[in-house]
Amino acid sequence: MRLAILGTGGMANHQALHFARIPGVMLVAGIDTDAQRLDAFCAKHGVGKGFATLDAALAWGRFDALTNVTPDSVHYETTLKALAAGKHVFCEKPLSTDAARAFEMAEAAEKAGLVGMVNLTYRNVAELQAARQLVLSGVIGEVRHVEASYLQSWLVSKAWGDWRAESKWLWRLSKKHGSNGVLGDIGIHIMDFAVYGAGQDVERVFCRLRAFHKAPGDRIGEYDLDANDSFSATVEFDNGALGVAHASRWATGHLNDLRLRVYGDRGGLEVLHRPTGSILSTCLGEDIETATWSERKVEPVETNYQRFVAAVLTGKTLEPTFRHAANLQRVLDEAIVAEDRRQEQRASKA
Ligand SMILES: NC(=O)c1ccc[n+]([C@@H]2O[C@H](COP(=O)([O-])OP(=O)(O)OC[C@H]3O[C@@H](n4cnc5c(N)ncnc54)[C@H](O)[C@@H]3O)[C@@H](O)[C@H]2O)c1
Repeated sequence: MRLAILGTGGMANHQALHFARIPGVMLVAGIDTDAQRLDAFCAKHGVGKGFATLDAALAWGRFDALTNVTPDSVHYETTLKALAAGKHVFCEKPLSTDAARAFEMAEAAEKAGLVGMVNLTYRNVAELQAARQLVLSGVIGEVRHVEASYLQSWLVSKAWGDWRAESKWLWRLSKKHGSNGVLGDIGIHIMDFAVYGAGQDVERVFCRLRAFHKAPGDRIGEYDLDANDSFSATVEFDNGALGVAHASRWATGHLNDLRLRVYGDRGGLEVLHRPTGSILSTCLGEDIETATWSERKVEPVETNYQRFVAAVLTGKTLEPTFRHAANLQRVLDEAIVAEDRRQEQRASKA
């Protein structure tokens, strides 16, 4: 499979390492509007061709699939262009900046019969996959209550660099630059973690969002710092279960921690994912009486990168699909409406 990488920034470097390890995958081209970044990327990963625009790469055309690793606001136009040229697309999350565009992208991929998959990275966490299997097997009974959180601290700490000085953080803080803040950036991950792990879709959502003061005039250079950096949501799932989901970039002491707790009428489970590793624990059977939790060992699972390659080879889209991501995007859109109206919103899937 000949793969082109659109956008050669932080996440593209991570993706390139993953794709390069998969037998049969050739990284044939890099594309970036920033010539310096493009050159450094191509040199580092041994990529033979570099293009300044997607149009130029498509005119050359010698690739089967495109991985779209541009900023969120660029996904829509570039993905549609690649699909129109007959290329399979692996797109970074969030699929787009709003659900209408995301559904349009899903329809375009489906109509063209091309693979359209989204990099909801935490599907690669084996403990999440195992948790879902436990829920679907019925071992915890009917799901009644869900708690999901995604905590980061890059607005407090410099462990990932200084957000005041780097464009890769600044675009994430600015609505004008197409960001829906922490909700669009990692809210999409935690909603997927909750929905996938608990085996339930979101039916209704209420949400509060906040962008805190963080620079003089809340502006740095061309970036207005107006996108939310904390959110807390309550959700109702399609089986009637209730849940809370929240995320923040102000969570001191947590570089990148996701936690999911799912409680059924016969047991509970917890998935904890941190940069240092993941843990799945359950409380089942007689242990319920003593509130004793046991850790479970799980086998590694295929990554999204491996599944995308398999999908391109067979021509059959696998999870996580564009349509799934568009449905999640609808939940995020309704969360923004809920904040504006201070009113719960219906967010059922299409
Ligand atoms: N799945 C995950 O866990 C995960 C983690 C980090 C980032 N992401 C996603 O990956 C995407 C990229 O994030 P990043 O951190 O790598 O950002 P980044 O700013 O480091 O890199 C983006 C690159 O795209 C380039 N670019 C912008 N517009 C372009 C265009 N029209 N054509 C070609 N190149 C263009 C920029 O010059 C830059 O080099 C975002 O959508 C982000 O949400 C996902």
